[in-house]
Amino acid sequence: MENMKKELLFPRDAIQTRVQELAAQISADYQGRELIIVGILKGAFIFMADLIRAMCIPCKIDFVRAASYGTGAESSGKVVLTKDLETSIKDKDILVVEDIIDTGLTLKYLVAWLQERNPKSLKVCAFLDKRKRRKVHFEADYVGFTMDDGFVVGYGLDFNEQSRFLPEVYIIKQE
Ligand code: IMP
Repeated sequence: MENMKKELLFPRDAIQTRVQELAAQISADYQGRELIIVGILKGAFIFMADLIRAMCIPCKIDFVRAASYGTGAESSGKVVLTKDLETSIKDKDILVVEDIIDTGLTLKYLVAWLQERNPKSLKVCAFLDKRKRRKVHFEADYVGFTMDDGFVVGYGLDFNEQSRFLPEVYIIKQE
């Protein structure tokens, strides 16, 4: 795994520019409102940290942990929540931040689960979107980059817990 072949997909400067654009859009959309950003662990932590620091409005943060990939590159299709929110989201404006949408199962499940807590509004911001791989219909409100099929690592995204620390996004090449 240490020697897996990978190719650069999104370089650091392209990520930085796109994150700033998203942050500007979100700041404008939520101006004057009380925003809580809910990050989905673990993959979203780097994107979320960059996003909130590029925003020019205040926000509170919280995290949930959802796992649908046990190990490897294929989704188990079963979503398990292993960490709950620590904040009440009732009557609050919520922006869920996710690393990547693939089949759509994780976010479909998570959004329904969060909606049961009656937020005032709930939107989703995903860093990456593999639109062609959907098994269920799901549209994010803000998307960093769309991409075709393929498994990516870096900028928080992992393969078997490896490569999250990389500042760029790489696509794994099958040998
Ligand atoms: P979904 O439920 O199939 O949409 O999968 C979403 C979750 O699968 C994400 O939160 C990631 O943790 C993981 N995932 C999907 N595709 C990739 C990838 O290319 N690299 C790393 N993780 C991925």
